[in-house]
Amino acid sequence: MALKVRTVARLVGAGHVGERLRAVRDGQAAVRAATLSSALGTGVLEALRAGPTTAELAADLAVTDHALLEAYLRTLEAARLVRTGGGRHRLARRGRAVLGDDVVRAAYEGFAGYHTGLYRDLGLQLRGGPARDDVVRHGDVIARLSRALEPLVHDTLDEAVAATRPRRVLDVGCGDGANLAHMLRAAPASSGTGVEVDPAAAALAEHTLRAEGLDGRAHVLTGDIRGLDPQQIGGPVDLALLANVIYYVPVGERRDLLRDIGALVAPGGTLLVVSTMADRSAFSRHFDLLLRAQAGEMSLPTPDDVTRDLRAAGLDVLGVRRLTRGDPLHAVTARRPS
Ligand SMILES: C[S@@+](CC[C@H](N)C(=O)[O-])C[C@H]1O[C@@H](n2cnc3c(N)ncnc32)[C@H](O)[C@@H]1O
Repeated sequence: MALKVRTVARLVGAGHVGERLRAVRDGQAAVRAATLSSALGTGVLEALRAGPTTAELAADLAVTDHALLEAYLRTLEAARLVRTGGGRHRLARRGRAVLGDDVVRAAYEGFAGYHTGLYRDLGLQLRGGPARDDVVRHGDVIARLSRALEPLVHDTLDEAVAATRPRRVLDVGCGDGANLAHMLRAAPASSGTGVEVDPAAAALAEHTLRAEGLDGRAHVLTGDIRGLDPQQIGGPVDLALLANVIYYVPVGERRDLLRDIGALVAPGGTLLVVSTMADRSAFSRHFDLLLRAQAGEMSLPTPDDVTRDLRAAGLDVLGVRRLTRGDPLHAVTARRPS
């Protein structure tokens, strides 16, 4: 039913109509993200693959409040994740799509989790409350969410592989190993190493290599790249990648880190630093705040910071570029002098 002119006038005249609309829209988006994240976190979405009745679902998930479960399932149906009919609940197309794409899952887990938890806890933290530990506690979600940027990183890697024709590659902070696997595929004669400090992410990387039949050509070391014995990676590499890792390292230690990695690169070899960097965009500012709220002095660098540190580490900087317009993801290419 169309609104009466008088009703519209009242709506427009009440408070700041633009901000009211924005607040409701933003709030509803936050509720949608929380609904989805809970459907993943409670295991309800996964359990719906089997098309259970409410009683079967309750038994499967040890639910005791059946009325609340029914109301929750109606919410998931309204969110078009679930279809209910003939006494059974089944995944709707959207529910299947969410379960079928791990980046989508990780995005809901991450954005409804630590990304917004930052602001829920910020008041306490500003007054001296404990620093956050998301990068330790949610290392696997962060590594999975990083896959969203993969196509951009892979284009850059293809160019680096074409320019360097590497026989040995290194992926520092390899996360789930997708970039390492991509380098190995792009350079079919190469072998490689991934180094990853988070054991859960390292296990994901090993799984990626196995799943792609690349485990014979590469291995994953679980540990901190800093202080790594070069022998452990089996000799100098022609192409080293540091993708979305530099911001984990305290500002005062970045130069040494780049020097350590540079020392693993053969003369004439390439070090590619890919990172979300500090700029004025809302996401860059948010991510920088999230990092600064962690225990351990993390922050986003600017492209100039990275360039300066690479030069100070004795590397020649060949170029800096933004990987896509409007996004704070940058690539800096450096070469170890021959
Ligand atoms: C945001 S993820 C990026 C993963 C992957 N490089 C990518 O771009 O998809 C950063 C990863 O670096 C790892 N990491 C951070 N500091 C590290 C260090 N000093 N040595 C090894 N790995 C590290 C983290 O555990 C995490 O998995």
